[in-house]
Amino acid sequence: MFDYVEVIYLLTVITFVLGLQRMSHPLTARSGIVYAGVAMLIATVATFFLPGMGNFLLIAIGIAVGGGIGWVAAKRVAMTDMPQMVAIYNGMGGGAAAGIAAVQLLTPGVALSDASLSVVGGLIGAVSFAGSLIAFLKLQGWLRSKPITYPLQQPTNLLVLAAAIAFGVLMFFPSFTTWFPLSPLLPFFVLAFGFGFLMTLPIGGADMPVVISLYNALTGLAVAMDGFALQNYAMVVAGTLVGAAGSLLTLLMARAMNRSVGNVLFGAFGATEETGTTMVGSMKPIDAEDVAVMLAYAQKVVIAPGYGMAVAQAQQKVKELTDVLEAKGITVKFAIHPVAGRMPGHMNVLLAEAGVPYDRLFDRDEINPELEGTDVVLVIGANDVVNPAAHRQGSALFGMPILDVEKAKNVIVLKRGQGKGFAGIENDLFYRDNSRMLYGDAQETVGKLVQALKKL
Ligand code: TAP
Repeated sequence: MFDYVEVIYLLTVITFVLGLQRMSHPLTARSGIVYAGVAMLIATVATFFLPGMGNFLLIAIGIAVGGGIGWVAAKRVAMTDMPQMVAIYNGMGGGAAAGIAAVQLLTPGVALSDASLSVVGGLIGAVSFAGSLIAFLKLQGWLRSKPITYPLQQPTNLLVLAAAIAFGVLMFFPSFTTWFPLSPLLPFFVLAFGFGFLMTLPIGGADMPVVISLYNALTGLAVAMDGFALQNYAMVVAGTLVGAAGSLLTLLMARAMNRSVGNVLFGAFGATEETGTTMVGSMKPIDAEDVAVMLAYAQKVVIAPGYGMAVAQAQQKVKELTDVLEAKGITVKFAIHPVAGRMPGHMNVLLAEAGVPYDRLFDRDEINPELEGTDVVLVIGANDVVNPAAHRQGSALFGMPILDVEKAKNVIVLKRGQGKGFAGIENDLFYRDNSRMLYGDAQETVGKLVQALKKL
């Protein structure tokens, strides 16, 4: 029976890899998720047939409760709340890895090599669990999203980490318990969780994408460590894949914000508010009919979508607008900023869902050189990713590469009112001479543009 399980594990591992490969393109990403889900289901069922398995009822109850909560939550979650859901589920993975490590460490007669792996896996899993929990609370708005800082913060964090490692090492010295009343296991986990909490507090909400993918990578690593200790190679491969994919995503996200991972973790970015910036000029409103005329005379239109498009669920209308413009012989391109929205690839997913052809999407480096000659840029619910404050020293956004839409001949900004972006700072793009504001919910205003264009 054991051999059969090994063969099934091998098949699931291959399916994981195929799923991951499909996730790398928006058109195949959905099926990639299905591949990975099916592989996970088969691996879970196969595990019941491993020798030495017991407590089937408890495991079944755990799966039913966990699976049930996951199913309901995933059905209910709004697309815009997806990052916090990813954070909490990732945290659960880290917590589970820490739990497995704890059981290993409590098992009498466990080999030294396995115990060492469990200590490392437990530490990483606990940090990931606690850190993801803080990331969830910040993204959900239940904890201040700005960096929470206090004096001697980094030395304190280092001390807590060092103490956790020390208790981890002490677990290999049984004589220790003769003068310390508790098993080192308890303080080890308390300190590891504490370190996860503490190291995430000074990280601001805007950096959460980087942090979540980093914790995702750590969870993968913790699972791989547990897999080595349990000699379960499905866990080793799945954990390593998550670790590698999470690490690459972390670097990608950090690069998108022009920051190093170290600066994200220890820089308390955005802790100080920018002061003394006053906007020059005024926001000039425009109505949909006038925008439609402007668009009808344009040769090239660039659409820069952002979080507001996701909130308004305006992607279908945006696709209709693209079709109408293209039918009039106007070139339409999409400017996609890597952190537009609230999760990696957010805009790509929404636009692919609406059927916008993938070859119309251009990333920041591709589109920026073209913006100067563009007749009209439609900024649909984007704010931070088009905020020229990113070029200004002292701004909380300073250094983040943005879409340079202000260079276009005309900029039309579609938003509901005077709301700020995620970083909470003013955007002087809206006050520029070549900018006009088309106020309203983006689904409604894009719909009006479509109607007005059809009448022309
Ligand atoms: P934001 O800076 O968040 O701005 C979105 C704008 O959309 C707001 O100013 C809001 O203005 C407008 N809006 C909201 N609902 C709308 C609706 N129904 N119709 C029309 N407009 C609406 O968006 P962005 O430019 O996409 O930037 C993303 C930000 O999120 C960045 O700071 C990024 O670092 C951060 N972040 C990104 C991620 C990832 S991985 N993408 C994860 C977490 C955080 P009104 O209220 O006036 O309408």
